[in-house]
Amino acid sequence: MALVALGVTGGIGAYKAVEVCRGLQQRGHEVVAVMTRAATRFVGPVTFEAITRRPVITSQWKPGANADIEHIALADGVELLLVAPCTANVIGKFANGIADDFLTSLYLATKAPVLLAPAMNTNMLAHPAVAGNLQTLAARGVHVVEPGEGYLACGWIGKGRLAEPEEIVAAAERVLAPRNSALRGRHVLVTAGPTCEDIDAVRYVGNRSSGRMGFAIAAEARRRGATVTLVAGPTQVEPPAVEHLVRVRSAAEMHAAVMRAVDLTGLAPAGEGPGGVARADVVIMAAAVADYTPAEPATAKIAKTDAPMTLTLRRTRDILADLGSLPTRASSGAPILVGFAAETEDVIARARQKRTRKQVDLIVANDVSAAGVGFDVPTNAVTIVSEEADQVIPLQSKTSVAAAILDRVERLVRARAAAPTR
Ligand code: CTP
Repeated sequence: MALVALGVTGGIGAYKAVEVCRGLQQRGHEVVAVMTRAATRFVGPVTFEAITRRPVITSQWKPGANADIEHIALADGVELLLVAPCTANVIGKFANGIADDFLTSLYLATKAPVLLAPAMNTNMLAHPAVAGNLQTLAARGVHVVEPGEGYLACGWIGKGRLAEPEEIVAAAERVLAPRNSALRGRHVLVTAGPTCEDIDAVRYVGNRSSGRMGFAIAAEARRRGATVTLVAGPTQVEPPAVEHLVRVRSAAEMHAAVMRAVDLTGLAPAGEGPGGVARADVVIMAAAVADYTPAEPATAKIAKTDAPMTLTLRRTRDILADLGSLPTRASSGAPILVGFAAETEDVIARARQKRTRKQVDLIVANDVSAAGVGFDVPTNAVTIVSEEADQVIPLQSKTSVAAAILDRVERLVRARAAAPTR
């Protein structure tokens, strides 16, 4: 995940930078906001401070700001300088190397890629001075998110409106995405969260999965350029932005959704699944799918009595094992399968057995009895069990664990692409 410097300049669209900031965070990025003096007239720095949970840089001259020559330190640390909205004034300064405030100095000092989202009046945008400056910047490799057309705050109709936050975030992701990722252009299906198995109209059997691990994997896969389908059970945590989000409730619904997205009926040469979605190349089952479901769920609410209650549960279908045992498993187009194993004892031995039993490529094993690991916490520590030697990933954020898991998946994707057709 990247550290992004979000430059906010003095345009009416400055308030939309708040949404851009949230969008970047949803995809797992850290954001440090840098505001020009004019920007602070449109939005208060406190807004960005609260959202980024970091001090907002508003001036080069604030006491303390030069203790570690902040613009140089930040210039070194950021992986992207994104300016949204970017005014004609700042475009002009960037193009001409004028460094009269923090943001413009940061632009000159950083080696990170730069992405601008210009916003201004139609005539200003069309003016040869601005058009020329944008061309100069483009020739230098600066990326630009084209402004939108429509009603402008100044009352005009035309081109110049700040692009939608979602578009700006997507452009930032494209700039940040590692160019050589083996997942670029692949379809990755991730499941996340718990499933809820209804007992009656109001009660259910569930588990404590928050969805965070699966969400982190989905966000990281997307950052690497994959098309992501996320099949998620009910969660409190917001899912990341992905191409296809499928919300499900029960294990049976998750089974159906996964099979649809994987489209195992069409294992002919790489193609399109139903609904125009490309068949999944990788399936990562991070969801905590219920192993049992009430045998006879009631449609109405069951009234209590004084007698003890016995709930009969029956086994659910094992999605991962079903994928692993499909007759098409051995064909070259079959997806790479990754499962999770939540254990409390004999963690690795059990994970190994699970990998063989379910016929999957990787099992990510975690000892859920350890502190800070597994369900409902932002961190995890796992061991990746595969054909090769076990890979231990010590306690760290779920975002970093997701990156380590996907590094392994990328190796498998590459190996499969290089292997002779089976
Ligand atoms: N899984 C699945 N369908 C199920 C149950 C589990 O696809 N009905 C997947 C989970 O998403 C996870 C892995 O299988 O990737 C977990 O395997 P499971 O056998 O359920 O193991 P645990 O729940 O970890 O432990 P136990 O073996 O005790 O059930």
